[in-house]
Order: sequence, then C-alpha cells, then structure tokens
Amino acid sequence: MKKLIAFVLLALSPLVAQASAGGECGELKHCLHAPVNAQDKVSLQNGAKLFLSYCAGCHSAKYIRYDRMANDLKIDPKLVAEYMMFTTDKVGETIDPKTPSKDQAKWFGAPPPDLSVETRLRSPDWVYSYLQSFYPDDARPYGVNNKVFKDVAMPHVLADLEQDLKPEEFKQSVGDLVNFMAYMADPVKVERERIGVWVLFFLFVLLIPVWFLNKEYWKDVK
Ligand code: HEC
Repeated sequence: MKKLIAFVLLALSPLVAQASAGGECGELKHCLHAPVNAQDKVSLQNGAKLFLSYCAGCHSAKYIRYDRMANDLKIDPKLVAEYMMFTTDKVGETIDPKTPSKDQAKWFGAPPPDLSVETRLRSPDWVYSYLQSFYPDDARPYGVNNKVFKDVAMPHVLADLEQDLKPEEFKQSVGDLVNFMAYMADPVKVERERIGVWVLFFLFVLLIPVWFLNKEYWKDVK
C-alpha cells in the first residue's frame, strides 16, 4: 500500500510543481500562460525579428549562432545577415552585443543577463508575464516599474510597440517573442521529438523478434 501511495505521489509531482509555479509571478496572482509552440515557424520567425530588434542591443544570447537560427527557423541566411545581425557581420557568430557587463551595470544599475536559457531558468510563462507587466511609476529611474519583477533595472523597451499595436496584437507579438526565447533555450526540441517517435517505433518492432527469441531460449528450461 505504501508503495502504491508513493507511486501515485511521484506520478502527480510534476502537476503539483506546475500548480505551485503559478505563484511565482510577483504581484500577479498567476503567471499568464505563454503560447509556446516549437512547430510554429511563422511565430518563431517573428519572435526572432523582435528579439534581435528589441532585446539583443543589451542582452546577449551566447549559446545560439545566427546560422543555426536561420537554418532551424527556415529564414534565408541572406535576410538574417541583412536585417537581423546588428552585433556582428559573421553568420557563424553567437548573438552578443559585446558590451562589457561592468559598464552596463553602471548604466542601468544591474547588468542585463544573457537570455539564451532564460525561459528554462524562469519559465516561458514568467517571461511572458514579465514583458506585459510594466506600469508607470515616477519613483523609478525610467518612470516604470514591473509587477512581476519589482524595481527592475530594465526600461520598458516594448513601450512603443505596445502603443502602436492593439492589445491583442501586442499580446501575440510578446507570445511570438517568448516562443522564440523558448526555442533558443532548447533548439533541438523539434528534432528530438521527431527522432523520438522513430525510436519508439523501432523499439516496438524489435519487441516482436525479442519476444519470440525469449520464448525459444527458455523453451527447454521451463
Ligand atoms: C536598455 C537595455 C535593455 C534592453 C533593450 C532589454 N533589456 Fe532586459 N534587462 C535589462 C537590464 C538592465 C536587466 C536587469 C534588471 C535587474 O536585474 O534589475 C534586464 C532584465 C531582463 C530579464 C530578467 C532577467 C532575470 O531573470 O533576472 C528579462 C527576462 C529580460 N530582461 C528580457 C528582455 C527582453 C525579452 C528584451 C527585449 C524585448 C529586453 N530584455 C530588452 C536591460 C535591457
């Protein structure tokens, strides 16, 4: 009986962990749910464009290279070189503004961290909620504060976008951006899942001869 209870608890633990993760979004009661879909290339392409235009000026993403991104997201490398590479002219380079973080810490009050694996550190829902939770606050140096990350040293860099777009469109853009960040944190996910299906299929087919072999080997012993 004890074993059964332990098994049920173990099986449920990811659900429990997810439920408790809801309380991690600062003043928000629950984190907003990020629309992450590694198969949606259009969303990922738009997210890449937004990330490189709005974020890569301050934040590095040192674990992803431009050519790998172009390849995975099916973006023409020429377009990447022309419109997305603000920090280098070599397509094999990683995303890195190469600004010394000591200087950045002086300018902003805190250094902007590398965002390569941010969605794994915080969760996509956290980043999605954070980017939509800036509000005016005159007591802060940039005139804004954030409900998810209190007294954050980052300005509201998407303020123009938020003003220009309808609320629904803004939400979708932030969704695309976070989708791209989730891809960046786990670029092999799609490939891994594709191969995984074949591996399971192979193991299933292998089971048939193995089952008969087992029968054959044990037939005299039993
Ligand atoms: C003007 C420079 C600047 C730009 C542009 C910028 N950030 Fe930041 N960001 C910062 C700074 C500085 C911090 C550190 C804040 C702190 O620790 O108080 C930060 C922190 C963050 C954090 C929290 C990191 C953590 O886990 O502690 C996230 C997530 C983030 N930025 C995402 C983004 C995204 C996404 C964009 C593009 C839409 C972006 N940032 C654009 C300066 C910037």
